Amino acid sequence: MFEAFYGMTHTPFSRDIPTEKLYDSPMMQEILGRLKYTAERQLFAVLTGDCGTGKTTTIRKFVDRLDDGQYKVLYLSDSKLTPRHFYKGLLEQLGCESKFYRGDAKRQLHREIELMRGIHGVQPVVVVDEAHLLDREMLEEVRFLLNFKMDAQSPMSLILVGQSELWDRLRLQSFTAIRQRIDIQFKLGHYDRAQSAEYIAMHLQYSGVTEQIFTDVALDEIHRFSGGAARIINKICTHCLLYGAQNRHRIIDDHMVKRVIEGELS
Ligand SMILES: Nc1ncnc2c1ncn2[C@@H]1O[C@H](COP(=O)(O)OP(=O)(O)OP(=O)(O)O)[C@@H](O)[C@H]1O
Ligand SMILES: [Mg+2]
Repeated sequence: MFEAFYGMTHTPFSRDIPTEKLYDSPMMQEILGRLKYTAERQLFAVLTGDCGTGKTTTIRKFVDRLDDGQYKVLYLSDSKLTPRHFYKGLLEQLGCESKFYRGDAKRQLHREIELMRGIHGVQPVVVVDEAHLLDREMLEEVRFLLNFKMDAQSPMSLILVGQSELWDRLRLQSFTAIRQRIDIQFKLGHYDRAQSAEYIAMHLQYSGVTEQIFTDVALDEIHRFSGGAARIINKICTHCLLYGAQNRHRIIDDHMVKRVIEGELS
């Protein structure tokens, strides 16, 4: 709706930006490097971060950059994941129909992974997103996955991705066995003021806009309200652009940002 008014060719602040157009923050670059290392060494990594800070987006970029002749990514994101659905989900992504019983499905998965590694020379990379929602039984199952081959060699890389409370849970005494097996742990933080501005500039650049739309003070206000979380920045900016286009303002200042936040987002 606002795209025509601002002369945009793409919609900024949307979810489906191609991964090569994403804002490449120093934090994201560092995490991408560690994720690559995790895949190369078949490690167990845990990525946490607050809601809407870009975890899934970072994984999307990591997966896009991996050589698919060398790695096979198995991605699960299901808040109600049970062990049976876990194996079923992984096997389906390998093109297999899962056996009914959990034990059978588990052996079947191990066999498939052996075949993939041994015959095709492809390394599996299992990514479990929204892992803060997994229950204890499911987290234990994830641990057993890593025990395959009697701990001598890990059969796959495993990346757990979840909101910050995932790490709080793993810190509990009862999760020591899992925690000890974690090779790399990293956290995606919030953007600082300068990064929030770069993030917004990148989205506007992607949309095809060359002039400035948000004033510097407007950017201060957006950063203050969002706390530097990508999803909230997207929301504020989209609402501001809608408001700006409706009221025919080419430039969006801090008063407009405040009005939009108070009227539509508080
Ligand atoms: N580096 C980036 N460049 C451009 N857009 C981004 C970037 N990081 C995040 N976003 C955008 O911010 C929004 C939220 O990101 P994402 O869904 O990855 O967050 P999340 O940390 O996985 O959130 P949740 O904890 O709710 O799962 C997405 O719509 C995404 O497009
Ligand atoms: Mg996510």
